[in-house]
Amino acid sequence: MSANNAGTCPFGGDSVASVAASSASETGAENAHQSFKDSFSYSSYLRIEQLLSAQAPITGAHDESLFITIHHVQEVWMSLIIKELTGAINHLGEGNFEPAMKMLARVSRAQEQMSNAWEVLKTMTPADYLEFRDAFGRASGFQSWQYRSIEFLLGNRQRYMLKPFAEQPEHHARLVALIESPSLYDVALRALCKRGLLAESALRIRFDETPQANAEVLKAWVSVYRDTAKHWDMYYLAEKLVDVEDNFRRWRFNHVTTVERMIGHKIGSGGTTGVDYLRRVLDVVLFPELWQVRTEL
Ligand code: HEM
Repeated sequence: MSANNAGTCPFGGDSVASVAASSASETGAENAHQSFKDSFSYSSYLRIEQLLSAQAPITGAHDESLFITIHHVQEVWMSLIIKELTGAINHLGEGNFEPAMKMLARVSRAQEQMSNAWEVLKTMTPADYLEFRDAFGRASGFQSWQYRSIEFLLGNRQRYMLKPFAEQPEHHARLVALIESPSLYDVALRALCKRGLLAESALRIRFDETPQANAEVLKAWVSVYRDTAKHWDMYYLAEKLVDVEDNFRRWRFNHVTTVERMIGHKIGSGGTTGVDYLRRVLDVVLFPELWQVRTEL
């Protein structure tokens, strides 16, 4: 085909013909590998078949694939976030601020991707959802052990959250270990102590509940924000934490709005009051003094 008759392409451009003509010789792909007997290929390294095999709708409803895909995408991001938060906690505990900051920045970017995923899910209507809703029974994100791990790592901790994992001893044990260990905020507060900005007595010794605002901690953050040049790394850490909580709130808000669009005020598949429960969760504050400090400045 010559470039002259490329205009017959129904999409109007002449690009189809010219790209095809140049593909082998000019694009640089002529020596692309074709044999992978002694090496990983794309699919074998990334286990694409395994990954896609998890997409297994149980009804013939068209939108069930979308529903499964969005959950999977979110769980994959959660898995990365757990690694990054764990790394950040370990680095901060050892006083290595820079790698911790890099990891927290990555957490924020991943959270943004998670929040954007709702835009795709919102193309599903309540009628589409009802075509497959009954098929998955009691399954609910409320039982996501990765989501609970993230909440526990960040510091939102309530023992009732462990209950849905009673029949999964491995996940239960991992979550119990997390709920009893210092959270990201706990290690940040310990760093304030190491700088002499906070007395050790202000640190909590039991970790299995969500921390309440503490006047001593607030005072320490006020001194950081009043002299940012002197306390630059603590100030930088504080703003990274606020980024993470800000993004978490957005995720929650986008979730509850999508849920209301989909099921109104029906009971959730996980057995909670649904939107009413999710609205209450919106009020959870992870790093209370970092929000209060704004009022004090
Ligand atoms: C049609 C879409 C969705 C609906 C109608 C929906 C509905 C709900 C409801 C009603 C709850 C409260 C617990 C319960 O089930 O009783 C909940 C919790 C939850 N959902 Fe969804 N959800 C949807 C999509 C998603 C997606 C795509 C994810 C991504 C992983 C997700 C993750 C979660 C999580 C993590 C919770 C626990 C929140 C918490 O306890 O703070 N949901 N969902």
